[in-house]
Amino acid sequence: MRFHVMTLFPEAFDRSREFSMIAQACRKGLISIEVTDIRAFTDDRHNTADDYQFGGGHGMVMKPGPVIEAVESVLAGYLLEQRARAPVVLFTPQGEMLDQRLVEEFSGAEALVLVCGHYAGMDERVPESLSARQVSIGDYVLTGGELPAMVLIDAVSRLVPGVVGSPESVTEDSITTGLLQHPLYTRPADYRGMEAPDVLRSGNHAEINRWRRRESLKRTLDRRPDLLRSADLSDDDRKYLAELGYSRLMSRG
Ligand code: 6GU
Repeated sequence: MRFHVMTLFPEAFDRSREFSMIAQACRKGLISIEVTDIRAFTDDRHNTADDYQFGGGHGMVMKPGPVIEAVESVLAGYLLEQRARAPVVLFTPQGEMLDQRLVEEFSGAEALVLVCGHYAGMDERVPESLSARQVSIGDYVLTGGELPAMVLIDAVSRLVPGVVGSPESVTEDSITTGLLQHPLYTRPADYRGMEAPDVLRSGNHAEINRWRRRESLKRTLDRRPDLLRSADLSDDDRKYLAELGYSRLMSRG
């Protein structure tokens, strides 16, 4: 997977390529992160990338020219038929919400062109002329699209074969399975009087699986009941949720 990042702050991506699984994936050639400085495509001697908004109002707007030309310079390196598989993603709080389903969709691309917005926002002709997919990472406001781009790079990279050690840790993921993950424990069995559950140390895998499933259900009901509506639930799961006081009536928004 090739990630192309368009940004006014290229240095923001320096460290993220130097540590953890992402760095390892880069070294192995499983992914690449190539950063383009939007300011290199400005055409005045002050390298102006923003301007006042038409109609007045607070906040500057990113000019269309430098961003569009930066993206075009990257797409020029791709054959026409490859470009269809290299979607342009524009980060904005006005975008559709990034979730695991969208991450999975993006992981099927040949390359991703990630455009980081700044200031009050971007001239509307940028997403329009690039047919960009507009994406937000949550209902809060950030100063720019760099962190959202790193979030997307991280989430998509995990799905590239070979990036995460065992394929099971991807497929058995919380959220991917539709439920939150059960609690985890490691040694020591007793930490300051807080004991890891006996069942996990029993060696009885049927019991362990049953405990984990129930803890997932309990936690999901408690923290993210909205997920239960689309989760894949067995009769046993439903019976257990009913014991916890969950009824489908409650789940209707
Ligand atoms: Cl994609 N950009 C900005 N500036 N703020 C955000 C966001 C994106 N997603 C959530 N908040």
